[in-house]
Amino acid sequence: MTEIPDSTPLQASVALHTGRITGEISPLLFGGFAEHMGRCIYEGIYDPESPLSDARGLRPDVMAALKETNYRIMRYPGGNFVSGYRWTDGIGPKAGRPRRRALAWRSIETNQFGPHEFMEFAEELGTEPMWAVNLGTGSIQDAADLVEYMNLPTGTLYSDLRASNGRSEPYGVKYWCLGNEMDGPWQIGQMDAHAYADKAVQAAKLMRWMDPGIKTIACGSSATAMPGYPEWDMTVLSHAYEQIDYFSMHHYAANPYPTISNTDGLPRDTDSYLASSLHFDEHADTLAAAIRVAKAKNRSKRDVFLCWDEWNVWYRAKGGDGEWSEAPHILEEVYNLEDALVVATWLNTFLRKSDVVKIACIAQIVNVIAPIMTRRDGMFRQTIFYPLTLFSRHASGVALDPLVRAPLQPTARYGDVSMLDVSASFDEATGEGATFLVNRSQTRPLRVTLSWEDDTPRALTGAWQMSGPDPLAENSFEMPDAVTAVPITPPVIEGRQVSLTVPPLSFTTLIAQHAPR
Ligand code: AHR
Repeated sequence: MTEIPDSTPLQASVALHTGRITGEISPLLFGGFAEHMGRCIYEGIYDPESPLSDARGLRPDVMAALKETNYRIMRYPGGNFVSGYRWTDGIGPKAGRPRRRALAWRSIETNQFGPHEFMEFAEELGTEPMWAVNLGTGSIQDAADLVEYMNLPTGTLYSDLRASNGRSEPYGVKYWCLGNEMDGPWQIGQMDAHAYADKAVQAAKLMRWMDPGIKTIACGSSATAMPGYPEWDMTVLSHAYEQIDYFSMHHYAANPYPTISNTDGLPRDTDSYLASSLHFDEHADTLAAAIRVAKAKNRSKRDVFLCWDEWNVWYRAKGGDGEWSEAPHILEEVYNLEDALVVATWLNTFLRKSDVVKIACIAQIVNVIAPIMTRRDGMFRQTIFYPLTLFSRHASGVALDPLVRAPLQPTARYGDVSMLDVSASFDEATGEGATFLVNRSQTRPLRVTLSWEDDTPRALTGAWQMSGPDPLAENSFEMPDAVTAVPITPPVIEGRQVSLTVPPLSFTTLIAQHAPR
């Protein structure tokens, strides 16, 4: 006989106080990443062949969806790609730009999209550019030359070259990544931690001499599963502390278990997967601790913050072999409901850790492990698009520290975990508060009482919910709206609280409007 799961709601409560905060929410937490790989740039962002594209080769439908997400920062041009990239290939008349083998992804790079095209794209999106320099095959001089090209007023070799290529005003790029995943054996020019720290310090020094206004980001371990984690991080931080402003962290979640590298042949484990934020929290805590230690070792007065510049779910479309073609269909992961819930809990982590995590970039933005999937004649929004966009549009001001009481549920990987994963924000400037609730249970609804301890809002003014019985439900070109965040009627405040039922496998966003202060 099949056992019918008990669907009676269990009780949970969340209490908020606008004075109990974990940190200021940096708008740069809602960032993206565009790499020259697969169909992210070519056929994704830039596709002159598509009947839908404008005169510049940009797809208005893709741009509109990217604008919906409201990305505040955009990392570019890689990723593994950057460690073999010669930025001078991408400037000047398009007809003269070289075709090259991009070794990282065994693809052909046409260089039809380069620094100027990216900056035009970023300006149109209204997003802050974040450039990665090549510390694989590239020299510290190449890195400084790129800063000169992008940021200096005319009057020197590279700034004049920029002007001759059509842009006389400096671009003023502020955020600069010092290489990418330099600990990985897959990286062009992999180094040990000491060699990397030396090169990063020298590159940052020259880049800052070129433009003292820039902010630099050093590479952390490329994953917590790396054998060098967290020793690499401790070494780089200790050595490079005074030359960096941010420290990068990367992670890709998987079902089962936390990384892309160890899923083969193992059975799925959705209960543990939905509890992945315990891993995310611990990752941020460990590196925040490493930063504190490095600060003390350096007797430093400066703070360094975390830049989670690659994060997402990635474990199905793993093959990165482009077979020496242009815009190969690689890493085209199709996301489902449970992935969207994990993404929502990850964004909860960013709010919980908002005192130390100040930049985050979902990897990536179009086609390649991305919230948007395109083909020449259309596009659709993947399930993960919805939590990302709701957070990006509504989490602002400060992150609140919610008091959560919820039933526990057992997981194989993390033991007993709270069924309810929560974060909340409050923006004094607008009076808007947002609460984000993920019910991790696959079977049990939760009756949640949300209360305000100090400043009860006038009303709840918006509410959205994603849910469904099938954790594997996904969107497609044929059924683009199978899994979305649906507007629901906001519950009515009674006294100092509201009550609502959140279904199993669900993500709920509640928007509250407080009186002006
Ligand atoms: O985002 C895909 C790849 O994952 C990036 O190029 C690399 O940095 C990471 O390993």
